Formats: sequence, structure tokens, C-alpha cells
Amino acid sequence: MNIETAKLHLETSKLMGVNFLPVGIEATPTENDSDSNIDKQSLLEQLCATHDSSCPLCATPNHTQAVFGSGNPDASLLFVGDAPSVEEVQRGIPFVGETGEKLDQIILAIGFNRDDVYISNVIKSRLEDDRAPLPTEVEQCGTFLQKQIEIIEPTVIVTLGSVATKYVLNTNDDISRLRGQWGEFRTIPVLPTFHPAFLLRNYTKENRQQVWDDMQKVISKLKQ
Ligand code: URA
Repeated sequence: MNIETAKLHLETSKLMGVNFLPVGIEATPTENDSDSNIDKQSLLEQLCATHDSSCPLCATPNHTQAVFGSGNPDASLLFVGDAPSVEEVQRGIPFVGETGEKLDQIILAIGFNRDDVYISNVIKSRLEDDRAPLPTEVEQCGTFLQKQIEIIEPTVIVTLGSVATKYVLNTNDDISRLRGQWGEFRTIPVLPTFHPAFLLRNYTKENRQQVWDDMQKVISKLKQ
């Protein structure tokens, strides 16, 4: 619906005595939504529903909601973190709060905003006291990340920190060795970089420079 038609609808509704706006109505696709985007979005929603009904972490007593991922389902760039924390679970969005702001800055610095990219995690639920995930949890939840990647088909994946890097690259190598080195998930180029939370805790010029160098590599790869 264009703005003129929307205005007309609003004026007609007003004339008919309607003095409120309906909420909760599914947005109808506009001419700008590509078919691919719509299909990918609905596939991701189906996948999220399957996850929520089958993931053992979703069945634990303190579980409220999973944080499946957010952003553009047709993104060329996918960021993968480890697991949501308390604020992410409250809002149902990955990477909010201070860590999220740092990631937003990184995304802006390379000429994108949050809506252009897709952001997800290996683990979709909050782990008690933000503990490290067990290998079984990584395996179980990780299969959903793999399916997300199959749907989104990004051109480049950036893994943030150790958990995501180890899972996506199927390696046990340390992030300090892997950071800044291209790897592959199936045929998709993967660049490991520091997790924004690590960067905030270790806010040195050297670490910031390394993340910046990594992002330059990402931009070059996307331009190829
Ligand atoms: N850290 C992550 O890895 N993911 C989030 O969503 C938040 C913090």
C-alpha cells in the first residue's frame, strides 16, 4: 500500500467514526519485498517453531523464550555469536545491550545497519548464569544454525568469538589463532573475529585494530 492509499483508508475510517488504529494485523508485502525475502522469512519462522518445540533447553523450568535470530533473511552478511544473555531473552533479539551496541558500531562502520545483515547465535536460549554451553547443547542447537545458513545463503559469515568459530568451522583451534584467517562453511567464506563482549573487556588499540582489519577483509570479500 502506498502513502496516498493509506491516507485515503485513514480518512475513510475517520469518516466512518473509527477513532483507533487496528494493531496486530499482518503487514502485507509491498512491491519492494522480493519473493525470495518472503519465502526465506517464512522458512525461518517455520524453522524457529520447530526449534522451540524440540529443543531440550526450551523445556527447562526457567526458559522463557528462545532468541532465534534477526535481520534481513536475504542478507549477504551473517554474524554468528554464542548464546543470548538476559537482555536478549527479554527482548527476543540477539545482541542488544552493551555488547549489541558494540556490534551495531562494527556493522555501521562497514556501511551496513542491523536491518541489512542477519544476526544469530549457535545457542538460541539463555544458559543459566551465562555458563559455557555443553558439547551436546552446541550440537543440538547448532543444527538449527546450519539450517538458518542454508535458508539465508549468505555470501560471507563472520563468527564472533570462540563458540561460534569452533562450531561453524568445525575446529578446536583457539580463536586467537583463527581470528582474521578465512575459513569455510561448506563453500561459504567464514571470517572469525573477536566477540564484541571480549572487545569491550579488552578494549586495547591492538584488539580494535584487529577487528577493524577483519572487517576490511569482509568488505573486500563482499565486493568480489
Ligand atoms: N552474546 C552473544 O553471543 N549473543 C547474543 O545474542 C548476546 C551476547
